[in-house]
Amino acid sequence: MLVTALTKLLNIRIPIIQGGMQWVGLPQLAAAVSNSGGLGILTALTQPDPNALRLAIRETRKLTPKPFGVNITLLPTINPPDYEGYARAALEEGVMIFETAGNNPAHLVKSFKDHGCIVIHKCTNIRHAKSAARLGVDVLSIDGFECAGHGGEEDIGGLVLLAKAAQELDIPYIASGGIATGRGLAAALALGAAGANIGTRFLCTVESPIHQSIKDKIVASKEQDTVHIFRTLRNTARVYRNTVSEQVIALESLPGGARFDELRDLVSGQRGRRVFETGDPDYGIWSAGVALGLINDCPTCEELLRRMEREAEEAIKGMAELVQG
Ligand SMILES: Cc1cc2nc3c(=O)[nH]c(=O)nc-3n(C[C@H](O)[C@H](O)[C@H](O)COP(=O)(O)O)c2cc1C
Repeated sequence: MLVTALTKLLNIRIPIIQGGMQWVGLPQLAAAVSNSGGLGILTALTQPDPNALRLAIRETRKLTPKPFGVNITLLPTINPPDYEGYARAALEEGVMIFETAGNNPAHLVKSFKDHGCIVIHKCTNIRHAKSAARLGVDVLSIDGFECAGHGGEEDIGGLVLLAKAAQELDIPYIASGGIATGRGLAAALALGAAGANIGTRFLCTVESPIHQSIKDKIVASKEQDTVHIFRTLRNTARVYRNTVSEQVIALESLPGGARFDELRDLVSGQRGRRVFETGDPDYGIWSAGVALGLINDCPTCEELLRRMEREAEEAIKGMAELVQG
């Protein structure tokens, strides 16, 4: 068994969290990850309103007796969603673990900590990690350049970010981005992380609620099959390389770049959602990380986590044998 600060804090068997995923972080996946010994996470904003989140939490409870969390992603948007409403609904339903991500989470962190909850904050550089630590979060989830979705503007890979985290952070941190195998988990632990946060690998599991054709597409994909969009808007996101993301990049590359309202229709969340529902990989934008290149099958969450646990243990034992004399 792998015992880390994360497994002890969250009372889970294997130090793996399934990160918040828009349109994907639904009860069936979160419950499957928690039932398999990791921490499953529901994505609040996938639900149309706080009451729907409430129902999703109840549904998840029916599917697992184990702990699970709720992700609240603070987006850079002009018309923000009802974050407080989502947070209140989750707190009232007795959720005790939250993953925050995105813009400054100060007001949410205070409220969660006042209720005695555990807060994992996801960020993309050490400066933001330190600010979140000062707010009182319990665990930092450090998203490197490899990650799916919003990895920041600094393009620092996980290897350096995590080694830097070991030098500079005083609270537990986990590695996020590019982890899909037990070796990746072992590497994260070697870099001082207390575990791993995983997105892309969980997209391609039996319990992932996306269309089978997209899972097949992921298995057929390589690490070269993602691109960065929104770089010119300083809101860079790593997404699957398809006709729509190529079109966005072409518009961004025009002299003077593109304004968001010129890209709005192409990048709409509803189109991304339809990718997962219809199985058409070219219908819209969908997040995916370079871990695509490591995914060769579509196991159950139980099979995946058992395999990663075994591989990580073997890798760690193998490394111990390197030490001689
Ligand atoms: C389809 C998809 C949707 C995502 N949506 C969100 C989101 O809504 N909020 C968030 O904080 N992170 C989101 N992420 C990022 C993941 O939580 C996680 O940080 C990231 O996937 C880690 O990198 P990896 O994919 O290489 O494992 C998403 C990732 C994927 C693959």
